[in-house]
Amino acid sequence: MARKKIALIGAGNIGGTLAHLAATKELGDVVLFDVVEGIPQGKALDLSQCGPVEGFDAKITGTNDYADIAGADVIIVTAGVARKPGMSRDDLLGINLKVMKAVGEGIKNNAPDAFVICITNPLDAMVWALREFSGLPHNKVVGMAGVLDSARFSHFLADEFQVSVKDVNTFVLGGHGDTMVPVVQYSTVAGIPVPDLIEQGRSTKERIDAIVARTRSGGGEIVGLLKTGSAYYAPATSGIAMAEAYLNDQKRLLPCAAFVEGKYGLDGLYVGVPVIIGAGGVEQIVEIKLDDEAKNNLQVSVDAVKELLVACKGIDPSLA
Ligand code: APR
Repeated sequence: MARKKIALIGAGNIGGTLAHLAATKELGDVVLFDVVEGIPQGKALDLSQCGPVEGFDAKITGTNDYADIAGADVIIVTAGVARKPGMSRDDLLGINLKVMKAVGEGIKNNAPDAFVICITNPLDAMVWALREFSGLPHNKVVGMAGVLDSARFSHFLADEFQVSVKDVNTFVLGGHGDTMVPVVQYSTVAGIPVPDLIEQGRSTKERIDAIVARTRSGGGEIVGLLKTGSAYYAPATSGIAMAEAYLNDQKRLLPCAAFVEGKYGLDGLYVGVPVIIGAGGVEQIVEIKLDDEAKNNLQVSVDAVKELLVACKGIDPSLA
């Protein structure tokens, strides 16, 4: 069987890290695409030279030509600009919307059968726009946010409870912004819900509330420290987990920005919900019962995403 092909649109910090992870995991051959000449080619050559040391069999190439993504099984999109200190994800909207138009058309014309994972921010609006511009089926276009936000939440909880991250399982739903919804009710340590651990005196509601707040601004905390860009190691790891779920038909249940119509009372927009990813792309959206607080928070988050969609339609009337 021929190797799978993974196309990475955007060869910046996340794109380069994605290429390295895809190669070391031998998910397939990798094509790095970018509009800047030399960057994808240079990174591809550098990464290829990791091969003899790490012992992976993966061909890594760089290109500025969309024709080279033809036949891609998975496409991960990080093209666009990243945040600088003081910026919110929403501040990127105008620039990155134009980028999504170019990328969507490139995918539509060259790799319409791919499973597409969008990472570009503001995520929930960009994945929606990318789907609109590419015309691919909704189940084949998904946004990466919940896996990353949940990883951040899990990391902070593992520190709080002084346990291995392996035993922590969390869910962050809603939009990938300050209104995201870390769902405490469904977050567990080895199956024990966090509210029960609070009852046992292992933490307090105040401390968990502070962790929820830190998770919500987890990306901003890193932007503030890096000063020159935003996080890339954990975003790339999260994107690769979703690509693996599709390529290996793992049927993983992951929080992702998926197109929701009907479930959760939503009428057709992309937002973070639990989904099953397998060979069919987004195979199912799983509706979970939320307590009143989580329900209200999800509504606030959905309203924030809706505002971004209105802004997108204002900038590009072809989306209206
Ligand atoms: N087509 C392809 N690539 C593009 C385009 C385009 N139209 N416009 C910009 N790019 C490329 C840039 O040349 C750059 O190499 O996208 C890359 C972005 O890389 P970085 O600036 O390093 O950003 P990164 O940290 O990888 O984040 C990318 O993901 O998490 C989000 O908020 C983040 O929107 C940002 C994106």
